[in-house]
Amino acid sequence: MQQIPEIQISPSLLAADFGCLTSEIERAVAAGADELHLDIMDARFVRNLTMGPDIVQAARKSSNLRLSVHLMMMQPADFLDAFIDAGAGTLLIHIEAEGDHAAMLRHIRSRNVRAGITLNPETPAAAVAPVLPLVDEVLAMSVHPGFGGQRFIEEVLPKIAELRHQTTVDGHSFDISVDGGISAENAAAPAAYGANIFIAGTSLFRAADMAAAVRALRAAAQQGRNSSR
Ligand code: DX5
Ligand code: ZN
Repeated sequence: MQQIPEIQISPSLLAADFGCLTSEIERAVAAGADELHLDIMDARFVRNLTMGPDIVQAARKSSNLRLSVHLMMMQPADFLDAFIDAGAGTLLIHIEAEGDHAAMLRHIRSRNVRAGITLNPETPAAAVAPVLPLVDEVLAMSVHPGFGGQRFIEEVLPKIAELRHQTTVDGHSFDISVDGGISAENAAAPAAYGANIFIAGTSLFRAADMAAAVRALRAAAQQGRNSSR
C-alpha cells in the first residue's frame, strides 16, 4: 500500500485583505502555512474576476512558500507561461476548461512546475483518469468555484476516495487537495477519504487567531487520517 503524502495547509488569499497583501502573506507564513493558494478567475469560467500574474509575482516576492495557482479560466493555455514566469510552484487547470488538457499539463511540467488538474463538485473522477499520469496534484472542489465563504459539499467525499484509490491501485503518485468551505470542523472526513492538501480561505484568514486556526485544521485532518487506518 502506497504512503499517502503528508498533510499540508494551504491558506487561500482570496479571503485576505487585498489592501495589505504583503502583511497578509506574512501572517499566513507566521501561522504555519505549508503553501499559499491563489485563485485566478476570468469572469467567464466563473462569474467573478480576481487577480492576474502581477499579484502572483508580488506574492512570490513576499514569501518563499510554494504558490499554488488555481486557474478558473475558460482558456488557460495562453496564460500558463505568464503564471509560471510570475512564480507559480503548482499550476492547476480545470478539466471543465477548454483546450488540450494533456498538452497543457505536459507544458507545465516541462517548465519544472508542478501540474494539477481540478474537478468541479459534479464532475466524476473518471473525467480526469486519462490525465492522471501527467499530474502532481488533483484538486477536488468542495464548493462551486467562484466565491469564498460557501458551505462544504459533502457529496464530493466518495470521489476523493476514488481518486486516492487510483493512486494506490495504478501506482501513480499525486497529492489530493480539497478546496471550498474547509475548516477544522469538517476536515477530518476528506482526510479520512484520502485528501492531503487542505485549502482554506475564510476559516483561516478570518479567524481571530490564524496560527491557532492552522493548528486546529492540521490536527483535525491528522485525526481524520488516523481514524481511517
Ligand atoms: C473558490 C476558491 C477557493 C476559495 C476557498 O472558488 O477556489 O480557493 O478561496 O474559500 P473558502 O475557504 O472561504 O471556501
Ligand atoms: Zn481555489
